[in-house]
Amino acid sequence: MIVYDQTKRTFFLHGKSFSCALRVHPAGYLVGLHFGGAVGEDDLSYFDPSPRELSFSPVPPDVGSYFSLDVAGNEYGSFGQGDFRAPSAIIERANGDRASRFVYVSHKIYGGAPDLGGLPSARGGETLAITMKDALSDAEIVLNYTLYEDSDVLVRNAEIVNRGKTPVVLRRAYSFCLDLAAGEYDVLRLHGRHNMERMPERTPLGHGSVKIGSARGASSHQMNPFLVLLERGAGEDAGECFGFELLYSGSWTLEAEESPTGSVRVTGGVNDLGFSWTLGAGERFVTPQVAICYSAQGMGEMSRSFADFLRGHVLPEKYVYAPRPVLVNNWEATYFAFDRETLCALADEAASLGMDTLVLDDGWFGARNDDRTSLGDWFVNEKKLEGGLSPVIEHCKQRGLKFGIWFEPEMISEDSELYRAHPDWAVGRAGVPRCKSRHQYVLDMTRKEVTDSIFARMSDILGSYEISYVKWDMNRHISEFYSNGLPAERQGEFAHRYISGVYALIGRLQAAFPDVFFEGCSGGGGRFDGGMLRFFPQFWTSDDTDAYERAKIQWGTSYGYPLSAMSCHVSSCPNHQTGRTTPFASRGTIASLGATGYELDPRKLSEEERAQIKEQIANYREIEELILRGDLYRIADPFEGNVFCVAVVSKDKTRAYVAGMRVHAEAGDFDRRIRLKGLSLEKTYSIRELGLSLRGDTLMHAGLLLPRLPDFGTWVWHLSEKS
Ligand code: GLA
Repeated sequence: MIVYDQTKRTFFLHGKSFSCALRVHPAGYLVGLHFGGAVGEDDLSYFDPSPRELSFSPVPPDVGSYFSLDVAGNEYGSFGQGDFRAPSAIIERANGDRASRFVYVSHKIYGGAPDLGGLPSARGGETLAITMKDALSDAEIVLNYTLYEDSDVLVRNAEIVNRGKTPVVLRRAYSFCLDLAAGEYDVLRLHGRHNMERMPERTPLGHGSVKIGSARGASSHQMNPFLVLLERGAGEDAGECFGFELLYSGSWTLEAEESPTGSVRVTGGVNDLGFSWTLGAGERFVTPQVAICYSAQGMGEMSRSFADFLRGHVLPEKYVYAPRPVLVNNWEATYFAFDRETLCALADEAASLGMDTLVLDDGWFGARNDDRTSLGDWFVNEKKLEGGLSPVIEHCKQRGLKFGIWFEPEMISEDSELYRAHPDWAVGRAGVPRCKSRHQYVLDMTRKEVTDSIFARMSDILGSYEISYVKWDMNRHISEFYSNGLPAERQGEFAHRYISGVYALIGRLQAAFPDVFFEGCSGGGGRFDGGMLRFFPQFWTSDDTDAYERAKIQWGTSYGYPLSAMSCHVSSCPNHQTGRTTPFASRGTIASLGATGYELDPRKLSEEERAQIKEQIANYREIEELILRGDLYRIADPFEGNVFCVAVVSKDKTRAYVAGMRVHAEAGDFDRRIRLKGLSLEKTYSIRELGLSLRGDTLMHAGLLLPRLPDFGTWVWHLSEKS
């Protein structure tokens, strides 16, 4: 609920269990007074700074009091007016002046979400749009706050409009600014690398800044656009925490800055490294959305709120709760070495095992038999696939299998027809040698003729064959950040224009092929973010499918994202990424905690493994409703100890699926208990595997014995309410 109290000039935004209070100061500044647990609609002007606090804090010229932007909770940080913390926007005018002072003009409250002009945007809710003007320039700022009755997530973004007659240049244009009251905070981020995405790291914040981000043109494996501030004592199940998640897939920044007074500013959005944006008369720059989550019950509750928010308001409505394809992907089975016979043989096996989709990965197009060639040439390689795709698709169809295909639409190989025809379509100044990564260049998605041409090629493939699934990959980061289609003064716009072009292309293809299920991928989980999840109901979580490492990656990913967004496959051993051998059953257990599939050669399985696959698929289908809609409880942290364990509980608490791994076998470890979470205290549950019936309070307070298992052994417990 959004309330504006005219007499107190205060906005109260009440979410499910949080409130946010913003006051329009007498001089017009929009001051954030509270963001946290629910509060009454009281007069909060007693928070105004007292004289003592203002030494060395400049007072703006229009304030005849002790007010200073340096110590106020500013809802959008201005530059050059005495707020020395990270500013939200830097607006440069022709005369070189960059100072801004944002003051309230008007507001409106309406049902629904703001129009983000093509950027990913959360659906539904109720929006407060506050219009501010820059007292020092012709810029106008619109701050959008979208609330959902059923959620502890507040979505924010900002729009900057040039109301003047001459252009201004944005040197920074962040999405939001939130100043939290002074306290002792820790900060958690999800860092990583290829094959090791989203590793949680918690450190004390301390004075100064913790600034995280990506300048790679993609949200990246290296750091996820996600940050949590926790009060010092907060943990998994208790304590206040504030989560921040950008719905954005390009270069980004999130910054938490502890001020000299101990308050904490959190701000961020589009990364401003090398960024500039020329805003002509009347033009508008729309910043990406950030989802801000408040939890008074630790990170577990925060993650469940983010999961519900993403499922309810971000992931594609048509697919979010739909059963997912249990697919086999041929990448690790064959890499580039396949032909029609191989694919048909894989299809035979997949069908006999009960899988429902065969996905043809990299190598079906142009002359691509290794990763040095043909990206951009989205024509079926009929030399390799005799008769084209049709015989394979027909073969699948006869066996009741659907067919999916891999694309890497944003890329171009130097050795390609496309590059020979359009060398200037690659990112980077034409004629100047460019960096290669995986032997390839990036296509310039800022240019309409480029996205039109890729759209035409992809639509031709998707329109010519019965294809039910697309894996959209992106296997390198951007180095040059230069478009041959942009004028010199607009090169600073490249990174944001690039990702906007990608969103537009995906949106256009999805509109043209609404029945095709799209999965995202970027060298594994390199673009696993709320922006991509607006288009892709699931994302390939990591190229690392080693059961132990995957358990950690999925654990880290679960801080910000629902299980159903994680695509998780069983692969063969020794594992192609780590060389480790883990039990086949363990790989199945870990893959069951997401959209399950297979990344192996089904021709090379033992009878025992074949039997297990059938059981794994049956298990996945049995628990799929929990994976798609349930609440995740993290129970044992594999980063802290020898055990990984999570529970997924149905909303009505009548069912639960518990899955765990004992990392290393330990002698004499007989007494360790797993205390479950998220159950109803009073309900009695049958635990299928143990043949026991126990009350929820017994299961949660006394627990169950940790099973004795070999190295990397896993177990599952299916719980259902006893009638
Ligand atoms: C990336 C993906 C893999 C596979 C290869 C193909 O690495 O993450 O799953 O599709 O590309 O080149």
